[in-house]
Amino acid sequence: MRLLGGLHYLMLAGRSPGWEWGEVRETLGRERDWLAAFTAGQTVQTNEVQRCWALVPAFLSLAGRPFELVELGSSAGLNLVWDRYRYRYAGGSWGPDGSPLELSGEERRPVPAELLSRDVEVVRRRGIDLEPVDLSSDDGVRLLSCFVWADQPERLERLRAAIEVARADPPEILRGDYVDVLPGILADRVSGALAVVFQTVSTIYLSKERYAELRRIVDEAEPPVAWISTRRLDEDETGVEGGFELELRADERAPARLVARLGYHGQWLEWRGLREP
Ligand SMILES: C[S@@+](CC[C@H](N)C(=O)[O-])C[C@H]1O[C@@H](n2cnc3c(N)ncnc32)[C@H](O)[C@@H]1O
Repeated sequence: MRLLGGLHYLMLAGRSPGWEWGEVRETLGRERDWLAAFTAGQTVQTNEVQRCWALVPAFLSLAGRPFELVELGSSAGLNLVWDRYRYRYAGGSWGPDGSPLELSGEERRPVPAELLSRDVEVVRRRGIDLEPVDLSSDDGVRLLSCFVWADQPERLERLRAAIEVARADPPEILRGDYVDVLPGILADRVSGALAVVFQTVSTIYLSKERYAELRRIVDEAEPPVAWISTRRLDEDETGVEGGFELELRADERAPARLVARLGYHGQWLEWRGLREP
């Protein structure tokens, strides 16, 4: 994956002509040293913005108070600006008209129209990542783009549009291990706002011990704190195939509950909501 990402990076940078085998072989020879360093040092970095389409109903379930967003494993922070994209569901649309990015997907159970009529206000947004991607540089944009495969033009186009939105007003991203950084973040909050701590496809990388510590930090934080998270495989209730379970804890009085199932990239959504048994 790193080698293919490296080849794609060189193509995006105009240093490799294309994917014909002769062209690839020529690039492998000419850029041998660069590719060796890239594959040795660069971890695979992705930020899948389509997941926002599956997360929005969960965020809207919490509407009422201003949001202070905290994203764990935020990568470049594209999903931290989810409220600046436009979304289409069977029951209606949500988000600003004229956003460069409009997201839709396969709705396996409808999202209630009432949910889509709610507004949210975001007063602060912060992300934490071990290796944040800096989108202010062309290198960062190429880096994030190169791990989306070149034969997936729709994903690349979504990424390009999301980068345009994030670059216009970038969220704050802190570098570090979120299990260590989160307590400081939760100790410094906007008064009157609901802290919404969320993550997608990041806690799967934690050991069981570190994950238990993370959940304890969230559970013991000063209220009000909500939690939205794709579950780890060892937490699955339903044995979802080809996707994740999404859980939501609206506040400190309630346990986290299964509210949806979604495709790995948010390409389909089966919304259940908080009221389902
Ligand atoms: C598969 S990517 C998902 C990125 C983003 N959440 C999304 O859904 O598009 C996982 C991200 O989590 C980050 N990550 C994993 N463990 C972490 C930790 N302990 N602290 C901070 N970031 C972490 C990685 O650096 C990577 O950017």
